[in-house]
Amino acid sequence: MKFISVATVCLVAGLAHGAALSEKVLASAHSQIMANASSILGWQVAGSQQSLAPVDQGCQNISSFGHGHWAALGLKPAVIEEAFCIATTRVSNSSALSLSQIKLAATNIFVAQLLHAFGDDPELSYQWLCQKFNYTAINDELALNSGLVGQAFCANRPYATAWVNPTHDVLVVADYFIYNMASALFATLYSFSASTATDRWVMCEQYFYMFQAQLQEGINSTIVRNALCLDHDEPLLTLDYSRNIMTDFSTDIFVRQLSLAVNAVDDEEKQAWLCENIQHGDLGLLGMTVNNTMFC
Ligand SMILES: *[C@@H]1O[C@H](CO)[C@@H](O)[C@H](O)[C@H]1NC(C)=O
Ligand SMILES: *[C@@H]1O[C@H](CO)[C@@H](O)[C@H](O)[C@H]1NC(C)=O
Ligand SMILES: *[C@@H]1O[C@H](CO)[C@@H](O)[C@H](O)[C@H]1NC(C)=O
Ligand SMILES: *[C@@H]1O[C@H](CO)[C@@H](O)[C@H](O)[C@H]1NC(C)=O
Ligand SMILES: *[C@@H]1O[C@H](CO)[C@@H](O)[C@H](O)[C@H]1NC(C)=O
Ligand SMILES: *[C@@H]1O[C@H](CO)[C@@H](O)[C@H](O)[C@H]1NC(C)=O
Repeated sequence: MKFISVATVCLVAGLAHGAALSEKVLASAHSQIMANASSILGWQVAGSQQSLAPVDQGCQNISSFGHGHWAALGLKPAVIEEAFCIATTRVSNSSALSLSQIKLAATNIFVAQLLHAFGDDPELSYQWLCQKFNYTAINDELALNSGLVGQAFCANRPYATAWVNPTHDVLVVADYFIYNMASALFATLYSFSASTATDRWVMCEQYFYMFQAQLQEGINSTIVRNALCLDHDEPLLTLDYSRNIMTDFSTDIFVRQLSLAVNAVDDEEKQAWLCENIQHGDLGLLGMTVNNTMFC
């Protein structure tokens, strides 16, 4: 697959005019999503290290830290490296800083996916979303920045919104499905960076020093341990396997986020609306499954 990296395409303007999603727009969205996914990975790793040395090594040369494997998945080493380099200067408070960066990047991903989930006439869909959003759930259960979500779909639009300001910050994602799915995604990406079974074993041993910090970052460290602490004869993760996990899990996370964000979990009418209006073909470029069964 080939992606054009045109950072200048204005996504929202393109969509507001009701244009069909061009490949260029989708490629740009994909690139933004991968940059933000890289930022999440970088901060998850940086924020859970107990010593400066590995983070500093990654800041000096990210190719040596992840063995260049992350780039093969379409992630952006420069973004991961940037997170590491910022973290080295704020190590005393890197968990708190990591959390805020992870939350911002996760919000950017959700917004970018949702902006591109609908077909040729997204305005009506945005209006529907804007009316249905539960900002409390977006803050408290998804640990996303509900202000940014509201701005993306509701600002300057001629219809009423049930906008509420966030009441408080949530440190850990409250929804268990997303918490565990996001942890499994992290575990896969982290484990995939091992070049040898010995590498993986060293990461397993480091895990014992990382797990406290992982808890603070909303990572289920049991899942990470299960991915790292394996016998030497267990095969390493392959590129294809890891790529499929990225696609499947990010689709599952998106579906669950959207269900909670619009209170659709137990609402068949809303699920039917989402099934009908989400344009599956467009999602293929976003690291998500091209699957016409989303919400159906
Ligand atoms: C993340 O997404 C936002 C909005 O789509 C974009 O402006 C930004 O460049 C992306 N990349 C990073 C590394 O944050
Ligand atoms: C970074 O690490 C890679 C892999 O270990 C190595 O090939 C490369 O030469 C290093 N680059 C620098 C600038 O040290
Ligand atoms: C760490 O960062 C958080 C959030 O940015 C802040 O509230 C807290 O005061 C900081 N703690 C220290 C010790 O700097
Ligand atoms: C919004 O989400 C919160 C949980 O975060 C829930 O308690 C509340 O009932 C939801 N509101 C509606 C209208 O479903
Ligand atoms: C963390 O993951 C383990 C292993 O999958 C699971 O048994 C446990 O329930 C999870 N913890 C939470 C709080 O979801
Ligand atoms: C869509 O996803 C469902 C459930 O995950 C799966 O059973 C089905 O085979 C998928 N369909 C396609 C066309 O990939």
